[in-house]
Amino acid sequence: MDRPKILLTRRWPKSVEKHLTERYDVTFNETDKPLETSELRDAMLHFDAVCPTVSDRVGGDILNVIGRRAKILGNYGVGFNHIDVETCKKLGIVVTNTPDVLTDCTADLALTLMLMIARRAGEGERQLRARSWNGWRPTHLLGTKVTGKTLGLVGFGRIGQATAARAHHGFGMRIVYYSRHRAAPEVEQTTGATHCPDLDDLIRQSDFISLHCPGGPETRHLINEERIAKMKPGAFLINTARGEVVDETALVDALKHNRIAGAGLDVYEREPDVPNAMIALNNVVLLPHLGSATTETRVEMGMRVARNLDAYFDGKEPPDRVV
Ligand code: DGY
Repeated sequence: MDRPKILLTRRWPKSVEKHLTERYDVTFNETDKPLETSELRDAMLHFDAVCPTVSDRVGGDILNVIGRRAKILGNYGVGFNHIDVETCKKLGIVVTNTPDVLTDCTADLALTLMLMIARRAGEGERQLRARSWNGWRPTHLLGTKVTGKTLGLVGFGRIGQATAARAHHGFGMRIVYYSRHRAAPEVEQTTGATHCPDLDDLIRQSDFISLHCPGGPETRHLINEERIAKMKPGAFLINTARGEVVDETALVDALKHNRIAGAGLDVYEREPDVPNAMIALNNVVLLPHLGSATTETRVEMGMRVARNLDAYFDGKEPPDRVV
């Protein structure tokens, strides 16, 4: 049999690209720019596997092509809300993702954002680089103490749990979590977390709220104007999940009028577009979707896709099949 033809929609770490060429006829996107809809549609016609990322919107218009050759989407990433999974189900297209390997780094980044916003690290760095720091003084850039505060987690999967463990054991934080299913007692014990069945109740009691739920229609604007209004005036919102979980306009408004203390964001509603009104604010830390961005993790994510493709083309069940 000819080597399966696969397309990577963006550049991946070199070692993974090399690994894939040993078994597959691989096409790379040399420009590393997001593909146009027409190019993605074309890819469905000419490749056995297409490997998208969060920067590709793979909707029904792309999947529903006559004469489609692609039978599997090997997504490079754990989140797959950019893929129309209902249409994939209907058409029998297999979809896989890359869980586990990015848990630690994404949890690390949630803690990075918490510390940066609470301790005003972004503001401080901007001030120093602007050469406007004129030395130590008792009232300079006073932030908020993190240790011992209450952290409310929205979503308590792998990344939520890893964030809880870091915050509880590293910073002595009290952890409450909101999730549809209560975690096993041993998970609650090792992470020091208590289940809170009511989201509004969790919001009202938290000093930090960190989002760890999947994106998609079910969680779109879960954190809306009403919920932001329920946050303590001194509380911080952290988002390393998906931008669409938060109503960005409502958040900007709350930050602008200091109705909450601040936010730390790694994801946005219309990436890579970040509203000017958000950029103008000092009480928000803005990172460019860096959750899984370490060499170790990005290589492991690629190897995880390779493992899924290998299983599929060997006629086996891909280990990370989501559809
Ligand atoms: C993920 O894996 O979902 C990251 O957000 C990058 O897509």
